[in-house]
Order: sequence, then structure tokens, then C-alpha cells
Amino acid sequence: MAGLLDWYDQNARPLPWRIEKVTPWESLLAEIILQQTQMETGLPYWERIRKAYPTPASLAADTEENLLRLWQGCGYYARARNLYKLATTLDGDDLPETFDALLKLPGIGPYTAAAIASMSFGEPVACVDGNVRRVISRLRAEHLSDSDLQNEANDLLNHERPGDWNQAMMEVGSLVCTPRNPSCDICPLESICLASNSSDPEQWPLRRSTKQTNIDAVALVVSGDGGFLLEPRKGRTLGGLWGLPYAEGDATSDLLKGRNVEEIGRIRHDFTHKRLNITIYISEATDTDELHNPDSVPLATLDRKVLNFFKGYLGEQS
Ligand code: ADE
Ligand code: SF4
Repeated sequence: MAGLLDWYDQNARPLPWRIEKVTPWESLLAEIILQQTQMETGLPYWERIRKAYPTPASLAADTEENLLRLWQGCGYYARARNLYKLATTLDGDDLPETFDALLKLPGIGPYTAAAIASMSFGEPVACVDGNVRRVISRLRAEHLSDSDLQNEANDLLNHERPGDWNQAMMEVGSLVCTPRNPSCDICPLESICLASNSSDPEQWPLRRSTKQTNIDAVALVVSGDGGFLLEPRKGRTLGGLWGLPYAEGDATSDLLKGRNVEEIGRIRHDFTHKRLNITIYISEATDTDELHNPDSVPLATLDRKVLNFFKGYLGEQS
């Protein structure tokens, strides 16, 4: 399939790492960000984070909280916490150069290990992300298991230019073989694609159900002259960030105890697996509340949304 690389050489988007040479570390930062964040949103985060932390050692020398400050708004914060762990694990060393060694690092799965091994070190290992899964399922017109997908991807891989090949497969998935209305007529893989002759290439791959649970939550905006009551968050989703007093589900009843509160409205906020219905309360700060400027700590988009709602409420009151 020389056709795919020719197509890639002519049609690849001019992304920064395709124009200038980037280090394996910068490439790792990009892959971690772009796996779960759209290109348009992710690129500015990548630019800021690679400038702040040009090496793993420079990240290890800083705090997790400062990394989260740069990461705030980008979501999936476990990525940032794992990245920090990875940097400290390396303990001054450079990234390892093989798929097997990369895979052992915190937060690095088969996709990321294959991306770095192939793009930065030329190792012939195939990347399977959501785009590649879609392309290969359609090429074969089959619903394939994850291990079959990996095997098919390895069989197709070009060993002279494995990094470009992997990017080309992903590029076809983002630009041509899109989830809806794939453009088979301009696709460089059309001649080997079984789905292209079918009446409905979209039937592959099987959709992975993203069931969202509806959850009620409360957020409390305690404000005073020094800013807002903000606390370090715990937990898998937003741990390491700071946030307003906040609780979900059964835990909500305790949050407002002992304060004079007023309900000011509701907002919705979606995570991948849960849809939050957040009731917002306000309360005056007391002498014992430790108030913070929200721009001085890493906050999740959820808290920024609540604070913006609060600002809107204040605007309506005056
Ligand atoms: N998405 C994830 N990795 C990418 C890459 N290297 N190029 C383009 N899109 C990507
Ligand atoms: Fe996807 Fe169509 Fe290309 Fe097949 S020919 S890989 S279905 S765009």
C-alpha cells in the first residue's frame, strides 16, 4: 500500500510535529493530550505544556499542582497526574526507546507506546486508536476484537516508515473515513476496502455504548472579600485540582449544613459517563473560611462554569 503514504505526503494536515522536529518527550505530550482532546482544543495545551516542561526532568522538578494549572480546562485530569508520575519515575532519565519499555511507564497504554516507539524511534509497531479501529473494521468489513484489530494493523504496517504510516492511518480516519459519511470516492484505501462496496460502510465498527448516568449534585459558592472558598479535590476524576465545596448523590445533604444558604439556580455538566444536574447555592464567607482567588489554583471546567453562573447571577442582582 504505497498509495496511503503518497496520499499522506500530499494531504497530511501541517501539524507542528510534521513541520519541525520534536523530541520524543514533546511527541509523548501531544499523543497523551490528543488521545482524549480534539486537535483544535488540544494544540494550545500542547504548546503551553511543552514550553513549560521541555524535558521530563523539568516536569519532575516542579509540582503536580503546577502541571494541573496548565492542564485545567483540558479534562481527563488522570492523564496529568499520570504524566507527573511518569516524569518522577524517570528520575532524570530520558524516555526509553522501545515499545516494551514505554508500555511499563505510568499512564502509557499500547496506543501511546506504539505512537512514540514508531514516530520517534522508528520501531515497526502499529497504533490502534479510535480512528484506526474504524478504518480497519471497514477495510475488513468485520467487527473485530481489540487483539484482532492490533494484529490486522501490524499486518498492514509499512516497516520503512512506521511512524508516518501510523499517522497516515489516523489521518485517513479523521479526514476521509469519518464516522458518518465516509468519503470512499477519494480514499487512498478504497482499492483494498471491503466496506467501500457495501451500501452502508458506517455499520462498522460496532458502536461502543457510552451510557451516561444522571446524577444530582450540589455546589456551594462561598464568597467574601478574599475570593471564594476553594478546597483541594480528591478522587479519580478531579483529584489534584481545587474546587468549590461540592458533592454528588447521597453525599449532597451534608454539604450545606451549618450555613445560611440560598439556591440561585441549576446547571448541567457532562462527563463521559455521567450527566450532572448541579444545584448551585450561595453563602457569605465566615471568618474561618479560607478564601482564594480562583485564578491562583487549578480548577476544573465544572467549577469555572459554576463561578460564571454565579457572576451572571450577581450581574442580574445589580
Ligand atoms: N491524534 C493523535 N495523535 C495524532 C498525531 N500524531 N497526528 C494527528 N492526529 C493525532
Ligand atoms: Fe473508509 Fe471508505 Fe476508505 Fe473504506 S474506502 S477505508 S470505508 S473511507
